Amino acid sequence: MIKREDSENIMNPKSTEQLAKFETTLRPKVLGEYIGQEEVKKNLLISMNASKRRNEPLEHVLLHGPAGLGKTTLANIIVHEMRVNIKVTSGPALEKQGDLASIITNLQENDVLFIDEIHRLRPVVEEILYTAMEDFGIDIIIGKGPSARSMRLALPKFTLIGATTKMSMLSSPLRDRFGHVFKLEFYTVDHIREIIMRSAKILKCEIEEKAAEVLAGSSRQTPRIANRLLRRARDYADYKGVKKIDEKLVKESLNSLNVDHLGLDRTDREILSSIIDKFSGGPVGLNTIAASVAEEEATLEDIYEPFLLQLGFIERTPRGRVATRRAYDHLGLRKDLF
Ligand SMILES: Nc1ncnc2c1ncn2[C@@H]1O[C@H](COP(=O)(O)OP(=O)(O)OP(=O)(O)O)[C@@H](O)[C@H]1O
Ligand SMILES: [Mg+2]
Repeated sequence: MIKREDSENIMNPKSTEQLAKFETTLRPKVLGEYIGQEEVKKNLLISMNASKRRNEPLEHVLLHGPAGLGKTTLANIIVHEMRVNIKVTSGPALEKQGDLASIITNLQENDVLFIDEIHRLRPVVEEILYTAMEDFGIDIIIGKGPSARSMRLALPKFTLIGATTKMSMLSSPLRDRFGHVFKLEFYTVDHIREIIMRSAKILKCEIEEKAAEVLAGSSRQTPRIANRLLRRARDYADYKGVKKIDEKLVKESLNSLNVDHLGLDRTDREILSSIIDKFSGGPVGLNTIAASVAEEEATLEDIYEPFLLQLGFIERTPRGRVATRRAYDHLGLRKDLF
């Protein structure tokens, strides 16, 4: 597969230490700094206060929603607000039952165990989570062969926080064991603008309100993208010798990144025009689209598709993806001519 040089790729950059550090710097630490998601915040606050009053750990929390909307951030905020410790792992990192068993048997009372990408847990590993979550116990086998017997080991009461971008891939026994299930929604442009202004302050970069608003419009309603676009605008301002980021500079910066006013980049447009030109508007399978735009299928599914669905530019049907009239309009094409 031909992979395009993606050093300029805002949506899906190669992760570097620098980028990770940048994200950590901007991550809100307390609930009051977490912008938007009002419904989630409200419910979370009620539950956290109740658990604190009862002196019990928070019930297990499942956070789901597209990439970059703030699941990891929220998990860390919960830990901070509950004044507990966190152990972090991820679905793919837990290969054997023993990997998870050794983590949960080392938890302290009230600790949070954060499992990122929890939909990627192997079924055998997932199985031991059931009793751990429900009864705070784990069954271990002692001995071998015919004399082997199973023994229940008590665990300290802990809170599991699971995060996933793919709720549909979670098994229902696992889903049912979470006391709280929170869905993170795409952000409003106003909230994204607020996030940009907050980040600019932390980064000590000056930006006009109007410039932040334009940037917000192109941020795919996603905080992570907003912060990355701000960073690029800041670099661009340095390059141009401009002190305060204004609307003109933001537009030039977005142009140089090939990001349009809705936040679509070259790959998004290629996806849409591929469905329209090569596959008569669809339906066409995601793997076929992926091959035609030289991207990995998983990248399309996790990074690009959620926002195209959110915009109503594509629809998912049992037979594949279909481009909608809005997609034709956005590309300046007339649907009736195809
Ligand atoms: N509500 C928010 N307010 C302010 N900043 C936010 C908010 N949510 C997320 N961010 C910013 O966006 C960045 C990405 O958020 P985070 O890493 O929590 O996303 P995620 O949902 O865990 O993504 P992934 O699915 O890729 O793991 C964070 O570094 C943080 O700075
Ligand atoms: Mg995360």
